[in-house]
Amino acid sequence: MLATTLAPFILLVSKQLPAPTQPHPCLSYHGLSTSGKYSFFGTVDETCITDAVPLLESGSFVAVDYNSRSELVWLESEAEGIDESLRSKSLDSYDAVALFLQSVKSSLVVDYAAQKQHTISEEPSADVLQVLHQDAGSVLLRVDRSLAKSIDTHLPPFWRSMTISREPQQLLPVPTSAVDRVREILKQTKFDPTVASLVNNISVTDLKNDIRYLTGEDPKSNILSRHSFSDGVRVAAHWLKGLFEHTGATCELSPFLSGFAPNVICSYPATVNTTETILVSAHYDSRGSFGTTRAPGGDDDGSGTVALISIARAIARTGVTFKKNIQLCAFAGEEQGLLGSRAYAREMREKGADLTLMVQADMLAYHKAGEPPQLGLPEVIGTPEVTQLVANLSAIYSPELTVGFTAACCSDHQSFHEQGFPATQVFERAGPIVDPMYHNSGDLSDREGYDFEQLRSIAKFATLLHAAGYDVPESAQ
Ligand SMILES: *[C@@H]1O[C@H](CO)[C@@H](O)[C@H](O)[C@H]1NC(C)=O
Ligand SMILES: *[C@@H]1O[C@H](CO)[C@@H](O)[C@H](O)[C@H]1NC(C)=O
Ligand SMILES: *[C@@H]1O[C@H](CO)[C@@H](O)[C@H](O)[C@H]1NC(C)=O
Repeated sequence: MLATTLAPFILLVSKQLPAPTQPHPCLSYHGLSTSGKYSFFGTVDETCITDAVPLLESGSFVAVDYNSRSELVWLESEAEGIDESLRSKSLDSYDAVALFLQSVKSSLVVDYAAQKQHTISEEPSADVLQVLHQDAGSVLLRVDRSLAKSIDTHLPPFWRSMTISREPQQLLPVPTSAVDRVREILKQTKFDPTVASLVNNISVTDLKNDIRYLTGEDPKSNILSRHSFSDGVRVAAHWLKGLFEHTGATCELSPFLSGFAPNVICSYPATVNTTETILVSAHYDSRGSFGTTRAPGGDDDGSGTVALISIARAIARTGVTFKKNIQLCAFAGEEQGLLGSRAYAREMREKGADLTLMVQADMLAYHKAGEPPQLGLPEVIGTPEVTQLVANLSAIYSPELTVGFTAACCSDHQSFHEQGFPATQVFERAGPIVDPMYHNSGDLSDREGYDFEQLRSIAKFATLLHAAGYDVPESAQ
């Protein structure tokens, strides 16, 4: 298909976080980077730059020659969320980017050679791959659409990628009424022995068996990888759907982008007539070592996924029912820029969903020797009231965890945050990532530091479901 030329576009990359309105009315909003540290604004009007510049604290304008096949891809170093001990082994960021570009180019040479059967040059044309902007921790690329989807397989350790839409996005703050509703839940939070006994039903034996299935450590599953394009991730999707349905949920495999594994969306219906919904989630796709798609993802994010399963199992075993709607979601495409959750959060916004709050569980199991078991909560992205609620529930029901903040970034709660829903994340450490197997093909569960007790303690964030109101069968009381 021939590419058609689109109007030149100017992108502003700004370290200024988006206020509820854009910096200048002539600029449209195009999203937030995965770390939450950069915002993107765009315009097709050159005079806009002169008007907008005086209002900005920082930022760079980049001219983009778009055609109908172009995608803008943003790459960002996660260095700030990664512990020094891991970072020292990684490359200097300019070397890392050079290596990345080299890897992408060699893959293109192979693809073209295979497809076209004639000699091609070493340098891809600017239509296929062009570096538009680069600084110490970030790169902006314009690439052909076919390349945008697979670019993450070339990323060096501790870099992430996302696509920036040419279509303006809505800037949606969380409404005060939604925050007030969470404040009300927070105010009423106190120890409840029934809630405690429900979450105490979460079993370490189940967590162990479930994670071994997802990583392929259990040979029965045959899953070698849960990379979003792998065969294994589809096996995992069907297995998850079956498991959740077995606990009484209604599930669907919900595709969001061709080539990607689907989201697994499961619901337990409310027992009273209400639209209010509480959502907990994890991502079941993963990412392996540089240059390979082998991605067992025992910690990232098999641990969050088995926490979801353990919540579902406890719901089934205890027979608890909820007055409001509960959704358990296992997202795919997280590693390629939160793609599955972005699609789902957008869909919920378009449907006018009544989401009370959502919590994403991402990386719960790694526990560094010599440190106490921990719960890390996000420093940047999320609704502080939801974060406080999770912290207070942890103090009540998992007092063995030391709670603190983390700069480790980038998970699916951001997609909900961007759509103006109250959201937060739970993570394994009150500090940067120290798991030596982070984004590594050795991320299995049978290894030093993989702590099932910590995983179980964090999975008790499920106590927040009490906010839906619940009933338990007589016999279980
Ligand atoms: C949450 O916990 C903090 C710290 O323990 C406490 O000061 C605060 O009162 C709690 N919030 C509510 C609403 O209970
Ligand atoms: C969970 O609850 C069920 C039903 O009450 C009980 O049979 C089972 O032993 C409990 N499991 C755990 C790990 O507490
Ligand atoms: C549920 O509530 C809505 C809105 O209050 C109402 O329109 C609807 O008829 C109710 N449905 C049932 C089954 O009671």
